[in-house]
Amino acid sequence: MMRQAGRYLPEYLELLSQTDFFTVCKTPALACEITLQPYRRYPSLDSLIIFSDILVIPVAMGMDCRMEPKVGPQFDFALETPEDMEKLNLTPDVEATLSYVFDGIYWTRTQVKNEVPVIGFSGAPWTLMGYMVEGGAVRSFDRAKKWLYLYPEASRKLLAALRDIVVEYLVGQFDSGAPLLTVFDTNCGEIPPRLYEEFCVPDLKYIATEVKKRRPGALVSVFPKDGEMAVFEDSDFDVVGVSWTSSPAEARRSCPSKTLQGNLDPHLLYADPDQIRERTVQMVKEFGVPKYICNLGHGMVPTHPVEGPKAFMEGVDSVSCEDAPA
Ligand code: CP3
Repeated sequence: MMRQAGRYLPEYLELLSQTDFFTVCKTPALACEITLQPYRRYPSLDSLIIFSDILVIPVAMGMDCRMEPKVGPQFDFALETPEDMEKLNLTPDVEATLSYVFDGIYWTRTQVKNEVPVIGFSGAPWTLMGYMVEGGAVRSFDRAKKWLYLYPEASRKLLAALRDIVVEYLVGQFDSGAPLLTVFDTNCGEIPPRLYEEFCVPDLKYIATEVKKRRPGALVSVFPKDGEMAVFEDSDFDVVGVSWTSSPAEARRSCPSKTLQGNLDPHLLYADPDQIRERTVQMVKEFGVPKYICNLGHGMVPTHPVEGPKAFMEGVDSVSCEDAPA
């Protein structure tokens, strides 16, 4: 489980009540502590995702960000017109501005004595652009969508700058000890497939190709939320994340050669443990164990009960054992 996963845990809320979100992100020992919290509770987890946020990239470009309780991330300013891009550093020194994330990964790996892998991640260019144009979390990304039509050249310039930063950032995370790197394109389904293919798919494919060219051992994963997965069949991504809106069979048809990751409806975690286990087993069987990473089909929310993930993991463990060769 990932994507704002920690905040349903009382120990996360306790730690966050003493400080603020981006201070935690920027303090490797605290980022490590939060990364380890779910692992202490659920030792059967077989990977950890580094505690951070996709918005550290805009912060590195000069857009300061606060995490407002109950509102979400809020930047100091929004990119209202292309002229506002002058306020940004489009080519920040990734090592200098984001080394706190690299240190957090290294620290976490050391703490777990390399017994369990740490997953790194980044926002995809289009998802990052969405937050930057809107100035923070919003219900619909109307202004960002308008940018693609009204200012296509400026949009391409911003997306290309983000693409290059994402590559550097993922390479840095790999070098600090994260063997699998996920690119979250949460806003993929916000625009029509044609527009997505024009503005986003080439950059995403480039990111996968370039990271693997520079670091042949790296595994890269993409989560094109609510979008067409088939465009990634012909890409260097190793893993494609599946939203809860797709069926496992549909996902396998779209990307037959890829490892798939997903896609339990996060709302199921409110149900009684028996139902959670049953539906999890059903999902794993539908995907099939080979070339599959069990996960939710989107993020957790603060009101999820702590018992939900436990039942989910029990379901996963039971079916994997049943299907393992003798
Ligand atoms: O799962 C984890 O805890 C790992 C770290 C992680 C966070 N954010 C920490 C976080 C990861 C992988 C993310 C990714 C992220 N952040 C995405 C992509 C994944 C997705 O959700 O599709 C996006 C779009 C963001 C941007 C972001 N960060 C938003 C929109 C919000 C507010 C969400 C909401 O519904 O309130 C955040 C906050 C955030 N990021 C929290 C955490 C633990 C919650 C902060 C808090 O309330 O204390």
